[in-house]
This record gives sequence, C-alpha cells and structure tokens, in this order.
Amino acid sequence: MAIYTVALSKGGSTKTTTAAEIAAELARRGRRVLAIDLDQQGNFSTRLGADDDTEVVAVASEVMTGDATVREAAVPSPSVPGVDLLVGTYDLAGLDQRPEVVTALRDQLPQVAGEWDDVVIDTPPALGLVTLAALAAADVVVAAVACETEAYDQLRRLVSFIDERVARILNPGQQVHWIVPTRYDSRRLLDRDVVEMLNKDHPGRVSSPIREAVAARDAYTSGQPVSVYAPGSGIAQDYAAALAPILDVHRVTIKTTSTN
Ligand SMILES: Nc1ncnc2c1ncn2[C@@H]1O[C@H](COP(=O)(O)OP(=O)(O)OP(=O)(O)O)[C@@H](O)[C@H]1O
Ligand SMILES: [Mg+2]
Repeated sequence: MAIYTVALSKGGSTKTTTAAEIAAELARRGRRVLAIDLDQQGNFSTRLGADDDTEVVAVASEVMTGDATVREAAVPSPSVPGVDLLVGTYDLAGLDQRPEVVTALRDQLPQVAGEWDDVVIDTPPALGLVTLAALAAADVVVAAVACETEAYDQLRRLVSFIDERVARILNPGQQVHWIVPTRYDSRRLLDRDVVEMLNKDHPGRVSSPIREAVAARDAYTSGQPVSVYAPGSGIAQDYAAALAPILDVHRVTIKTTSTN
C-alpha cells in the first residue's frame, strides 16, 4: 500500500484537483484506491462525485477521532469506479484542537492494506493537526504548486514544517517527494520563472507542468476529476505525463508495507 498526501498551505493551490487526478490515475491502473478528504470544505468529496444525497454511515472526521473505522466510513466514489471515499465535512474544522488525531491515519491505514492498494489524502490549506496527521501517514508527499509567488513561498513553509514536525519522530525522514507545478502558461514569464526556481531548489523532484485550463473548473462542477470529465484533453494529458514518474517510482523506492 502506498499512501499519497497532497499538501500546501496556500489556499487554491490546486491540491484537491491534483489529488483527484492521482486517485483517478491509480484507479485506471487497476488499483483499489481509498480517497480521504481531510478538508472541511469537502471539495475532494465533490470532485469524486459525492453530494448531499450520498449516503454515508460515518465521515472522515469520525475516523480521525476513532469513532468510526475506515471500513465503516468508506463509500464508493459515484464518479470514479475503483475509488472509495471518506467524505470530508465541516466537523473536520474542530480536529485541529484534538492532539490524538495526529497519529490516527498513520496507525489505522496499515490495517486496511488488504482492502485498498493505495490511499490518496487531500489536506486543508493550513498546517494544523489535520494536515500533520496526513503527513505523518504518507509514503509520498506531493506539493501542488500553482505557478504564483505565494504558492512558491508556502512550499518553503511546508518543507520546514515537515522537517520540524514530521521528519524527526512522527514519520522519520519524511520529506516533500514531488512538486507538481500547475496552472502553467508558458506565455507568462512569471510561470516560467516559478518552474525554473522549483527545479533549481528541488532538482529531480519537480514534475512536468500542468497547463492552465478551464476544464479543471468545469470538471469540478460536474463532480469529476478532469481526466474523467475530459479524457484526452490537454490538461488530462499533462496530468498523465506528470503523474507517470510519481506513481511508478514509488513501487521501486517506497518501502512496501508488509501487510499487503
Ligand atoms: N490547471 C488548472 N487550470 C485552471 N484552473 C484550475 C487548474 N487546476 C485547478 N484549477 C481550479 O483552481 C481552483 C483551486 O483548485 P483546488 O480546489 O484544486 O485548489 P486547493 O489547493 O485544493 O484549494 P483549497 O486550498 O481551497 O483546498 C479550482 O476552482 C480549480 O477548479
Ligand atoms: Mg482543496
């Protein structure tokens, strides 16, 4: 089982869009995927087709507090076959005051390695305890960085946060494994500069960029990852190219969880 966490504290930096593409791409490869929405906004749940009519026994926050199990809470994604979902709700907002949530996923996810091959976790735009829990559990940390200076600055914060709060004890050696530059327009000097700076600061860890495309928003409105909403589109092709090394390399470099 490989656990992917998508993070960056900058709001709107395309975390959720990128997390949904990771989940959809893994499912296309025949992997059984568990998607966990840890953002109170619930956008990952919406991107995977869940809405007010989706019936759930429990939600992600209850799994975090130990009031429900992963198996109880998981529901099939209405829009992506092969993906199950822990729905994110407003209750997640209260968890940043609950220290016990920090190790919840790290401790529980290995127990369900027989049921799901991979896990994709979407995080809120904050570096609180909920995001800490997702980083503590992750095998692969992916930073989604929209090509703008603010997101670039927040990447530095994420790197220090992982160094100081995760890499020493919670998940020894944890790091940002991959950076996905998004909303890229090669005609903009700033976008080219951001990608160049990322490659300079994080050589070998920056994926090919994802273009700016209105299909990303349209796909959200129809409750689908963009590669499901518009397969074959330029942005879907960009995601396929960017994710190929991220999803392939881990099979060689990431420790395989012994329970699977
Ligand atoms: N490549 C793209 N081109 C254009 N728009 C995009 C692209 N990727 C994502 N978007 C849009 O940008 C907005 C923010 O994306 P998203 O919700 O994925 O960011 P986020 O980091 O999860 O935000 P938050 O911090 O609020 O959770 C959304 O409206 C999304 O549809
Ligand atoms: Mg989001």
